[in-house]
Amino acid sequence: MSQNREAAISRRLPIASLAAIGLGLMLTAGTSQAASETEKMELSHAAIIGATCMGCHGFRGMGSGEIPRLAGVAKEVTAGKLLEYKSGALEGTVMNRIAKGYTDDEIQAVAEFFANQ
Ligand code: HEC
Repeated sequence: MSQNREAAISRRLPIASLAAIGLGLMLTAGTSQAASETEKMELSHAAIIGATCMGCHGFRGMGSGEIPRLAGVAKEVTAGKLLEYKSGALEGTVMNRIAKGYTDDEIQAVAEFFANQ
């Protein structure tokens, strides 16, 4: 009885190891995709920052009333203004405070995000 059971288990083992190898391969494949996953993460980080701007700047930064459009504006222009708001070189009503909340890298990323809208 117990011999049969062992035999049954050992017959099942190769399947288990194949499954383990398969899983290993999947994990390895996952690692080689790491670079593009990082890029996606950065993109979504920019999109999340961008979403916080849309309440004032309109959906996808299309502009809203008096509040200027960001969509399609060159990255250098948006980033340049944000850096000036951050440093105080450019004076606004709310943008100085908002720009101070972001690192220079985040400013570049969100400027690129709106340039591509
Ligand atoms: C509370 C509303 C509000 C939010 C939120 C907001 N903005 Fe603004 N933004 C303004 C206003 C108002 C101006 C005009 C300058 C001022 O008064 O500060 C402006 C101006 C700008 C300008 C200058 C555009 C130009 O053509 O001169 C840029 C660039 C900008 N905002 C980017 C952003 C980004 C990026 C975010 C999100 C991180 C953001 N803003 C979030 C209200 C807002």
